[in-house]
Amino acid sequence: MEWNARRLDVIEPSPTLAISAKAAELKKKGEDIVSFGAGEPDFETPAHIKEAAKKAIDKGQTRYTAVSGTVELRDAIITKFKRDNGLEYSRNQIIVGTGGKQVIYNFFLATLNPGDEVVIPAPYWVSYADIVRLAEGKAVIVPTSKADNFRISPAQLEKAITPKTKVVVINSPSNPTGSAYSRKELEALGEVVLKHKVMVLSDDIYESIVFDGFQFSNLAMLSPELKELTFVANGVSKAYSMTGWRIGYGAGPLHIIQNMDTIQSQSTSNPSSISQAAAEAALTGDQACVAEMAKAFQKRRDLIVGLLNEIPGVEVNVPQGAFYVFPYLTGVYETDGFKKLQAASSETSKSKLFCAQLLDKYKVAAVPGIAFGDDNALRLSYAMGEDDIKKGVSRISEMVRDFSR
Ligand SMILES: Cc1ncc(COP(=O)(O)O)c(C=O)c1O
Repeated sequence: MEWNARRLDVIEPSPTLAISAKAAELKKKGEDIVSFGAGEPDFETPAHIKEAAKKAIDKGQTRYTAVSGTVELRDAIITKFKRDNGLEYSRNQIIVGTGGKQVIYNFFLATLNPGDEVVIPAPYWVSYADIVRLAEGKAVIVPTSKADNFRISPAQLEKAITPKTKVVVINSPSNPTGSAYSRKELEALGEVVLKHKVMVLSDDIYESIVFDGFQFSNLAMLSPELKELTFVANGVSKAYSMTGWRIGYGAGPLHIIQNMDTIQSQSTSNPSSISQAAAEAALTGDQACVAEMAKAFQKRRDLIVGLLNEIPGVEVNVPQGAFYVFPYLTGVYETDGFKKLQAASSETSKSKLFCAQLLDKYKVAAVPGIAFGDDNALRLSYAMGEDDIKKGVSRISEMVRDFSR
């Protein structure tokens, strides 16, 4: 008897969640670990949002809701799109899911047929490719480089599109690099999208965490024609420090939302009614908390980029948003110490080898770049206090120094 479903052959457990779990386990055992692994803000969920959830429980909002989310929350999402993006949607063009991840999962399940291609610029959020494969699609990975600030060019996109292409993924600001596309850059990509009439998954989950006055845009905002081809995924996890509440949402063409609703009705049904009440308070309440968190992240970005720049052999990009940096280790890989480590190991991925040594010997958790499609780098999440950033980077620096001895 073949006990395992074959669909498992095409996916792996999320490496980011695995590393965060390992770091948490070591911490619990009493080890002094600095974890740059987690993909979540470290702030408390703002008090007015928690209050709304408590009130929802007391008022008895503890039952099933409509599969796509309560009318109140969907209306709050409509208001958010108008306020922040100038986008108009009707209620039946909105779906609420159990986190942005489920929304993206259901989008691909509702859109792809076997063999349909999805263009994913690398480095990419780990789940896109695995979800596409689970949905029997083909992930077409397009590498981008540090020199281009990890952004796909219109020419690269044009080259990647085939008659089988159905969806192009744009994640701006990006996990894992923090790079973001300006309106002008999106306009150029939009021309290619319109020419080939492919769909866009615009993953805007880091929309509100942008730095130095960066103006966020997405493809749906550029023209009614592009809006018709764009599915926007977003959520409250990152903007309001609500990762555990599990509320994400999506907006797009009616037929896609209806199909996603059908799929969701046969899997999780509605997301938690209490979390929905909290998300409604988040989206309609005072937005000052969002700007405050973004400001704190900018300060930490400046700190970590400055510290990493001082390490010989490490080259770091300057992120425009999110809370990750993606430093290149190509100089470190050239050191005698690293080469010796490599010779003594059966691990073929350099970034995996680097991260394993970093955790075992120097007690720092980071995610190998290969998990995001680029073995030259590692991803550091700086969603932590400034003292921990200093401590963690100084340990990375110590490891690199030891390699060069
Ligand atoms: C790029 C990106 N998209 C979507 C998500 C999904 O977040 P959630 O499911 O918490 O809403 C994440 C979370 O790490 C992410 O980094």
